[in-house]
Amino acid sequence: EEWKERGAAVGTRQEYDADGKLVLKTVKKGVKDFTFGRTLGEGSYSTVLLATDKQTLKEYAVKVLDKKHIIKEKKIKYVNIEKEALNRLIEHPGIVRLYYTFQDNSSLYYVLDIANGGELLGVLKKVGSFDEECTRFFGAQILDAIEHMHNRGVIHRDLKPENVLMDDQMHIKITDFGTAKLLPDPRKASELGIYDMQDPESTRAKSFVGTAEYVSPELLTDKSACKASDLWAFGCIIYQLLSGRPPFKAGNEYQTFQKIVGLEYEFPPGFPPAARDLVERLLVLDPQRRLSIEHIKNHEFFDGIAWGRGLWKQKAPRLR
Ligand code: ADE
Repeated sequence: EEWKERGAAVGTRQEYDADGKLVLKTVKKGVKDFTFGRTLGEGSYSTVLLATDKQTLKEYAVKVLDKKHIIKEKKIKYVNIEKEALNRLIEHPGIVRLYYTFQDNSSLYYVLDIANGGELLGVLKKVGSFDEECTRFFGAQILDAIEHMHNRGVIHRDLKPENVLMDDQMHIKITDFGTAKLLPDPRKASELGIYDMQDPESTRAKSFVGTAEYVSPELLTDKSACKASDLWAFGCIIYQLLSGRPPFKAGNEYQTFQKIVGLEYEFPPGFPPAARDLVERLLVLDPQRRLSIEHIKNHEFFDGIAWGRGLWKQKAPRLR
């Protein structure tokens, strides 16, 4: 019913017509075009499988969503948001790309970039914590991807090291836009002249989503998320990369939330001073007073980073 397909999910195939003439036929990819392999990950409404395109032998991660379960749990809206968000964000190296979508009777299929290095959380746990150089590099890539999302009117709302994947070059790829908030696409809207980007009310998004440890205080107090909510999570991630644990962590969600709204966290001994200053300017209760992306880029912690596409041509530092 609601699962409408759009133009992106097509490929071409060479075929001979009735007269023996070679023609390029536009075809839509489907389940039968892939061989499915091992499970890469599991979520509440989906399973991510390794899959290989039978024609090109290119590997993908295919997110398989169970229609029945989604309908029963009333999550249709979120499934469509994820697809729309991914379609807005294609062609950024720091964001998992959506290549095709298709469906069969029981499932929806999202064919995504594969990230062979697994979750940033797993990488972090293996080494315990990162040094400043690693944190600067991965932090810069994450911020560049966030900037792209925000420029396209997408608030992620669940940024955390589990949703940051690593590719085979050890470059980051942000995934899981199932809880994203879509703002009017600033590029389309400005053409139409219907959207005032300076109006904070029009950029507010209601309702609770996310993961306790990275949830921003504004989501807990006035149930609204804005672009700056992703930068709160970014501050939590920078803290975690350097110290090995998130800043706000307690025995249960309620206690974690209390710590967040009370800004109750401490820096472990030896935490680098420039990073401490950056985190302190991100973990600010008032979202309006949080550092902007432009200011984060110019913060001394990121001194030496060449912002822009060059970031993605650089070799990742050795993990330490
Ligand atoms: N697990 C979830 N999504 C994935 C992806 N895109 N690549 C590899 N593993 C994943």
